[in-house]
Amino acid sequence: MSEGYYNSKKTDDICGDVCGQQGSRAALSMSRLRCVLRGLDFKTLIFLFVVIPVSFFFIYLHGQKISYFLRPLWESPPKPFHEIPHYYHDNVPMETLCKLHGWGIRESPRRVFDAVLFNNEVDMLTIRWKEMHPYVSEFVILESNSTFTGLLKPLFFASSRDDFKFVESRLTYGVIGGRFKKDENPFVEEAYQRVALDKLLRIAGIEDDDLLIMSDVDEIPSAHTINLLRWCDDIPPILHLQLRNYLYSFEFFLDNESWRASVHRYQTGKTRYAHYRQADVLLSDAGWHCSFCFRHISEFIFKMKAYSHNDRVRFAHYLNRKRIQDVICEGADLFDMLPEEYTFKEIIGKLGPIPHSYSAVHLPSYLLDNAEKYKFLLPGNCKRESG
Ligand SMILES: *[C@@H]1O[C@H](CO)[C@@H](O)[C@H](O)[C@H]1NC(C)=O
Ligand SMILES: *[C@@H]1O[C@H](CO)[C@@H](O)[C@H](O)[C@H]1NC(C)=O
Repeated sequence: MSEGYYNSKKTDDICGDVCGQQGSRAALSMSRLRCVLRGLDFKTLIFLFVVIPVSFFFIYLHGQKISYFLRPLWESPPKPFHEIPHYYHDNVPMETLCKLHGWGIRESPRRVFDAVLFNNEVDMLTIRWKEMHPYVSEFVILESNSTFTGLLKPLFFASSRDDFKFVESRLTYGVIGGRFKKDENPFVEEAYQRVALDKLLRIAGIEDDDLLIMSDVDEIPSAHTINLLRWCDDIPPILHLQLRNYLYSFEFFLDNESWRASVHRYQTGKTRYAHYRQADVLLSDAGWHCSFCFRHISEFIFKMKAYSHNDRVRFAHYLNRKRIQDVICEGADLFDMLPEEYTFKEIIGKLGPIPHSYSAVHLPSYLLDNAEKYKFLLPGNCKRESG
């Protein structure tokens, strides 16, 4: 009996001999496993040991992409805006421009308050304020020593305040202490800072029917848009601004879909600083939104770690300097994400890097007047400064 067992082991047929045989416990269970495997055909084995693990690994790497791609299935688009046509030309008088929009002209313009939460966008802030400063009565800026994700941050505005002398006489700068709560949703700290900005606006002296611009630093309304809205009567109480979306610089034009910036005729007790949708009207072609338009790679890294979408930094190598530089020059996505859209057609239309644009027409004037200083924002200069 045992002779036959050892002999037949030389043959291929393990199961036939071992299954049901006596032996040490360990040997027996090993053999049983072999028997089970033997019972499965080659295709099933491939499926178990190759296809399933590879799929899990793929989902681990691309889970976020998959859920973005499937977004049209689980989320329907918001109600579309009512888009107001926007008329503008340098040589057309204000009265005519107001009339073209169906508005009257005022005896004197409204006062304009521009209010922002400041993180680290020094270059964008300069271009913003230079663009708007002929028409803004008060620049209100709030800075915290905490990022939205609860990291301690230097007061970047305080340390570069000397570069903003051109607004000093119209500046209200506030500093707020962070709450430094661990593991909190970054949107909570952001909301807390926006409430503080409401208080700062009252300190700055805002009154009823003053115009209040609510937007992020990198959402820049064009000067002529502000001028139109401060001169015309009967403009809507809340108006969203449609801005052209750019990524990294004005070389990468994405689309015209930015709408979060808004202009309010201030109402005491009612107007609250917010960065979400507050009305259904949208003024067409009203400025620029330049996301991640930084001069230094270190600023990209800071922003990637510090703000509301830091969960998108899924792998440490996303913060690698060389990778970031390459991604910028390609017009690809820093977080390796898919476009956030509501239809498959739009997602597919935007797959892959953003095409280069060689137009530097209709950009903020300060940018062109100082093209050498802001070279990195103009077409053909994707290389960032070290530091
Ligand atoms: C943050 O700023 C607040 C207010 O200026 C200050 O009281 C607090 O000590 C600062 N926190 C840290 C950790 O520096
Ligand atoms: C964006 O708007 C501008 C001006 O209204 C227009 O010329 C351009 O074709 C639009 N681009 C896209 C991609 O919608």
